[in-house]
Amino acid sequence: MPSKILVFAASLRTGSFNACLADLVAWRLEEDGASVTRLDLGAYDLPIYHGDIEANDGVPEPAMKLHEQFRNHDAIFIASPEYNANVSPLLANVLAWVSRIPENGGMAAAFGQPVFALGSASPGGFGGYRGLMALRNMLELQLGARVLTAMVSVPQAHEAFDEGGNLVAPFPKKMLEGMLASITEVTR
Ligand SMILES: Cc1cc2nc3c(=O)[nH]c(=O)nc-3n(C[C@H](O)[C@H](O)[C@H](O)COP(=O)(O)O)c2cc1C
Repeated sequence: MPSKILVFAASLRTGSFNACLADLVAWRLEEDGASVTRLDLGAYDLPIYHGDIEANDGVPEPAMKLHEQFRNHDAIFIASPEYNANVSPLLANVLAWVSRIPENGGMAAAFGQPVFALGSASPGGFGGYRGLMALRNMLELQLGARVLTAMVSVPQAHEAFDEGGNLVAPFPKKMLEGMLASITEVTR
């Protein structure tokens, strides 16, 4: 059976560089024979996490649906933009809500079962790498996730992709190949 891999970008911006990276990773994994779900976070309308919403109304339905997506895949690739050397507010909010679901195996099913792979694209020189370290901390230290060592960061993202959506510069390309090989190895 092909491995099931969830791929999404933590940006809703039109022309998002991280969406480009997610598209590329999804396409390459499909080429390698995986069954890929290219998820659009824009389809999951979530309020900003607020304890009163949770106490009064429970966890919103879109978060339950995301939990189902997380737990039903062998691996999850997140293309995560860097905001102030950290994760995007969108991603922090998604992870907060999904972590609040005790049903259907709770955190262990959503975060402990799939393997996580991380990438980031940024117009800046660090390629979002600092945000990836923050995301790794969150996933590993609090959410109990296994995060692959190999990550991909794409600096100067505005000039990093060619017309076919492939990476141009040698170093991000090498990082991408290492990360794809690692995902394939652990999900085989
Ligand atoms: C509030 C804010 C903070 C940002 N902080 C960083 C940062 O710390 N490092 C960085 O490389 N880029 C930073 N950026 C730039 C984003 O990486 C850039 O807007 C990027 O294109 C967002 O990802 P996207 O193209 O997938 O939407 C920041 C942008 C905003 C709006």
